[in-house]
Amino acid sequence: MRKLLIWLILTVLSGGGVVIYALHQQYEEQSAEFRILYRDITVKLAQNDVILALLSNSSDPKVVQQKFPYILRWQTQPHDPPRPDINPARAGTYWINSPQGSLLIDLPGLLADFVRSQKFHHFSLSWQGAPLLMQGAEGTDDWWRWEKQITSPSQPLSLTVTNNPDWRNLPWLLMVLVGLFWAVVIYFYNQYQRTKRQRNIADLRAHFSELSRLNAMGEIAAGMVHELNQPLTAILSYSQTAQRLIAQQQAEKALPLLDASVTQTKRISALLRTFREKLHSDEQALQPVDLRRVWEHVVTLLGNEIQRGKVTVINNIPDSLPPLMASPLGIEQIFHNLLNNAIQAQQQIPVGKAWVAINASQSENSIVLTVTDGGPGLTEQALEQVFMPFFTTRKDGLGLGMALTETLVQRLNGSIQAQNSANGGACFTLIFPFAQQEA
Ligand SMILES: Nc1ncnc2c1ncn2[C@@H]1O[C@H](COP(=O)(O)OP(=O)(O)OP(=O)(O)O)[C@@H](O)[C@H]1O
Ligand SMILES: [Mg+2]
Repeated sequence: MRKLLIWLILTVLSGGGVVIYALHQQYEEQSAEFRILYRDITVKLAQNDVILALLSNSSDPKVVQQKFPYILRWQTQPHDPPRPDINPARAGTYWINSPQGSLLIDLPGLLADFVRSQKFHHFSLSWQGAPLLMQGAEGTDDWWRWEKQITSPSQPLSLTVTNNPDWRNLPWLLMVLVGLFWAVVIYFYNQYQRTKRQRNIADLRAHFSELSRLNAMGEIAAGMVHELNQPLTAILSYSQTAQRLIAQQQAEKALPLLDASVTQTKRISALLRTFREKLHSDEQALQPVDLRRVWEHVVTLLGNEIQRGKVTVINNIPDSLPPLMASPLGIEQIFHNLLNNAIQAQQQIPVGKAWVAINASQSENSIVLTVTDGGPGLTEQALEQVFMPFFTTRKDGLGLGMALTETLVQRLNGSIQAQNSANGGACFTLIFPFAQQEA
């Protein structure tokens, strides 16, 4: 609609310009015609003065009449009333006088040729307001009017012509072409705008995908820092203890510690492998995962912390629970974060009172897991923001554990919720639909 309006305005403006130019041209042409007409009539009238000067008593009236049929009468005495009057005696006739004599001129006869060939709508020759010769209707409503007095002392006639523009002769084809021209210009401009917009969108998309790649890399880097922190701390602690035991000649006691170090190192290597895979693609290989065994493995990984906090860990996952189609390391990371948080939340609990329990149940189309603990539970703010990156209430916490956990759960089309259970401790509920397992 807007384009149509623009086209209309441009066409009207440039079409108007063309019309004005064409009208001006017509006016100039007709002005030139008027000047020629004026000049010819002046010359023709001047002839009368010459004839009057040459006529004498000896001239033969018949010959004069024959040569100049528009001289109706002539006489050697000035016509009454005396000169220099021009007498509009009868319609279209007038006397011109000189001391030698007078002539009665028949103006229509004199100018018959001009009148026949002139193309103005209205043509008139008048003397002192009285028309002597007129052709065409009164031109009062006509567009253009030219008027000039003949510069002859004996015949000061006034020549007036009027005319209208020749509408049929305006450059209509050119105006149609102008309209077409603007339509083509607007069409191509539109196309140009459209491709430019598409190019911009494509550029933006490329930019965004680059940004989201950087974003994903940032997420991965943050995840790496978070997930590698615990196993590295554990390895450091195992190795230092092992060193001490070996120094005390108790090498046999150091062996299980070194085993635990190896397990943690393997975990680091597995984590690094998944991070590397993630950098290449977002797809993860799903396989049947025995949740009960993964939980037990995580309990081993966090053995140090569990022991130190004297936390009772209860595994209520039934043996009969069907395997979950998932990435084993993903599930391990989820359990690791939940268990680690539960342990950390219970550091102020009286010795021996801390506990963490995992329960699992199977419904028609999903597996529901709950991880509960005997800690103080989540604060009101934590309940709202626990899954937000960088939300933490711990002094040395990064606030990434639960954000990462939520991402991992969502990758399996699952959901996770945080609440506090009746005893006051935290309760995380995870639901994994079977639908994704068919994938
Ligand atoms: N079991 C829990 N009991 C009480 N509060 C919890 C529990 N789990 C999480 N929270 C609260 O949620 C916050 C966010 O947990 P999240 O694991 O994301 O970060 P963090 O443990 O503080 O740091 P990190 O990134 O090192 O894990 C914790 O700081 C804590 O306040
Ligand atoms: Mg945490």
